Amino acid sequence: MAFKKLAIGNDHTAVDLKNEIMEYLTEKGYEIVNVGTDSKERMDYPVSGYKVAKMVASGEVDGGILICGTGVGISLSANKVHGIRAVVCSEPYSARLSRQHNNTNIVAFGARVVGVETAKDIVDAWLGAEYEGGRHQRRIDMISEIEETQGLSVVDNAQ
Ligand code: RB5
Repeated sequence: MAFKKLAIGNDHTAVDLKNEIMEYLTEKGYEIVNVGTDSKERMDYPVSGYKVAKMVASGEVDGGILICGTGVGISLSANKVHGIRAVVCSEPYSARLSRQHNNTNIVAFGARVVGVETAKDIVDAWLGAEYEGGRHQRRIDMISEIEETQGLSVVDNAQ
């Protein structure tokens, strides 16, 4: 899937980096929907993680970008929404592989962890990679099975 329309969300730690990334991607022709905070007043990252995740899960946007201090809390929040596979990464290799092998639909990173240029590299790697399917789909299906049933038949039914 080629990403065209993206939702972006952040907490108070990541306003400046969010703005840099928005400007960078807008210049590249992406449509960006900003649902994060534009204030540096403390706020709770699950609010932004949830908003972006719901938009991705509903198909309103093709994918999402989340930024908090570490990228951890905001990605954990997003991953609680059904159908979301959010990756947090600090370098582009994991971002690329997370698309090719794990079919991630949200990328997250930390404003206190990566600088602007690394963040741009992460976003470029993530947006530029395609899900490869094939042998990876069985594993994605297993992730979905855990999500749907809170079980995993290959483990639970093993004799
Ligand atoms: C806020 O202080 C910080 O906890 C948040 O930005 C994030 O890093 C959480 O995972």
